[in-house]
Amino acid sequence: MKTFYYLFITAAAIILVSFKKPDPLPLYKNKSAPIESRVNDLLKRMTLAEKVMQLSQYTLGLNDNENNINDLSKNFDPHAGSLIYFGSDPVFRNAVQKKAIEETRLGIPILFGFDVIHGCKTLYPIPLAVGCSWNTALNSEVCSNSAKETYLSGINWTFSPMVDVARDPRWGRVAEGYGEDPYTGGQFGASAVRGYQGQSLSAPNNIAACLKHYVAYGLVEGGRDYSFTDVSQQVLHDTYLVTFKAAVKAGASTVMSSFNDISGTPATINKYLLTDVLKTQWGFKGFVVADWQAIAQLTNQGVAKDPEQAGERALNAGLDMDMLSDIYHKYLPDLLKQKKITMATVNEAVKRVLTLKFKLGLFDNPYTPIVDESQRYLQPATKKAANQMAAESMVLLKNKDNVLPISSSIKSVAIIGPMVKDSTDLMGSWTGRAKAKDVESINSALQSEFAGRVQLNYAHGCDFDGKDDSGFDEALNAAKNSDEVVLFLGEKNSWSGENTSRSTIALPEIQECLVAAIKKIGKPIIIVLNNGRPLALKNIEPDADAILEAWQPGTVGATAITGILSGRINPSGKLDITFPLTTGQIPVYYDMHPRSRPYSGNYQDIPTEPLYWFGHGLSYTTYNYGDVKLSSIKIKKTGHLVAKVEVNNAGKMDGKEAVLWYISHPEATISRPRKELKFFEKKLIKQGEKIVYTFDLDPERDLSYPDANGKQVLESGDYYLMVGSQKVKFEVTD
Ligand code: BGC
Repeated sequence: MKTFYYLFITAAAIILVSFKKPDPLPLYKNKSAPIESRVNDLLKRMTLAEKVMQLSQYTLGLNDNENNINDLSKNFDPHAGSLIYFGSDPVFRNAVQKKAIEETRLGIPILFGFDVIHGCKTLYPIPLAVGCSWNTALNSEVCSNSAKETYLSGINWTFSPMVDVARDPRWGRVAEGYGEDPYTGGQFGASAVRGYQGQSLSAPNNIAACLKHYVAYGLVEGGRDYSFTDVSQQVLHDTYLVTFKAAVKAGASTVMSSFNDISGTPATINKYLLTDVLKTQWGFKGFVVADWQAIAQLTNQGVAKDPEQAGERALNAGLDMDMLSDIYHKYLPDLLKQKKITMATVNEAVKRVLTLKFKLGLFDNPYTPIVDESQRYLQPATKKAANQMAAESMVLLKNKDNVLPISSSIKSVAIIGPMVKDSTDLMGSWTGRAKAKDVESINSALQSEFAGRVQLNYAHGCDFDGKDDSGFDEALNAAKNSDEVVLFLGEKNSWSGENTSRSTIALPEIQECLVAAIKKIGKPIIIVLNNGRPLALKNIEPDADAILEAWQPGTVGATAITGILSGRINPSGKLDITFPLTTGQIPVYYDMHPRSRPYSGNYQDIPTEPLYWFGHGLSYTTYNYGDVKLSSIKIKKTGHLVAKVEVNNAGKMDGKEAVLWYISHPEATISRPRKELKFFEKKLIKQGEKIVYTFDLDPERDLSYPDANGKQVLESGDYYLMVGSQKVKFEVTD
């Protein structure tokens, strides 16, 4: 009877359990709920330990960036908010993600990040070159292609674009941004964000962007990386914050704080910049990640006595995610107990991180689709756009007697220099997942470009540096036996990028000596440069008949170089950064402020003018600018002005011309730069054709300037508009 009773009870219990309603799907897992509700629901379920892990970033795989060597991390914690993934295998990445989804209590997906700076497998030119293209639509296209290769490698977040305004080319990281001008940097930064992120972050092939390095990193003293930066509030808002503001407006998902100490308060703990300006004034809704171990480095910068205090100051300043310091994970719980930070601050940071994960669709689609490598990388359309970007970014600096393009009467050309057969140094710093074997060398491109037409006589000449001139004789012979000489010179990859400051930006002496030796042969000399910073060309420019700045043009850049040499491509790049005559002229940039004695104060030992100003760049055709026409010469602050200029391609080739519109305001309350770029546009003009370029000037947007707190000020008075060689006056009234 007793047995029967127990059986009865058990059966009843089973029946009851099987009739019990299943647990409802937690709100945060409901795909159709609004993101904000999902975030709030998840946050409520999280323990403190889970929260601090969301604010912590670690690595997966072995870093190949020698500035940040890590141990091969096989034993990752699946609770990590983010992993920097130094691989491109989506299968492995998915296995790691599976652990986070299936083996953690709440199944929060990991955000995989990586530095895809100018391409993943297909490299396009370095950003400094990209700025010279003045083609922001093309930049969006290459960044979108780059996002696709990145996404299919298992990465959902790139630490790009770098929008640091850079005016000191001794600083190696000048290669990573879009040059010296805040407006240009902002436009290119915004176009990169649009390219990476697309219309919707959750759509396949799109990835989150990260604006870096916030802020004024380009101003490190003496161009020495990671150093102190002294900058006034006025200059911060007027110059260094401008690029970030524009790219935040374009919807950038994240921002990376910079390493530098900004006038005493390192960016990592700069509450004014991280919270007051970025999050409050600009309404930035994404999250801020520290730079690599930057929180730990606060003790080196003399603003924290130990890692715990460093963590406290960083979190309280508004820094949301700790990259690789492992400080938030270790110390935030204790700091909370000691009431040095609040739960509200922790929650706010966690919310920002989770929001991006939801926006990226990682909760609903955490895995990377597996696409065969042959379909993933180096696709024809990707290479085509990269090649176009390379072509448009190269700048013809000099072309005496139209020695370029190489004339059809030329039968033999000496091709000399360390760059001719070298593919690695065409890649630039930050090579993503690219391999030198996929990069076409200049030699191979020359052979195809000139096959059967011109005899090419090769000589190595010399290495990039060192003292060995034993190759000079062979080079001189090649020059003697040829009608013209093309010298392929420049910098090694490793000479620009992070931690590559240089005390002089001239080419190494051995390369200069090679030029001087070849000059004695008396043949026309064309110099092609591949480098990651402006160079001081004082010693070689006089010996060159033509100079082509070809930068580090990436996977398919070599054919753009040879296309320009042969005349298949008409160069259309213009400098986004000034080339000083010598290193001693630094800083020199186009939008300097006027000095009190413009006629005086020059250098006594060298010319004061740089060799090539920002905006300089030649073409194989001739563009004639008509008179600028203004819709009115007097406008109200609330009005607007339409300026038009007709440009005629009067030469013998189709070409693309970038028209740069500047303004100046010489009677402002505080001194303004001599001129400021406010708009640019690049268009194709066919041979013989006339095209009208229009600048629709909005006074509030284009004529106001920020005060020291970032508040825009628009003043009435006389202004000037400058385009080409013209300068026209107009008045702004109240
Ligand atoms: C660099 C960043 C980079 C980070 C992660 C740092 O050393 O300054 O630009 O995104 O490493 O690799």
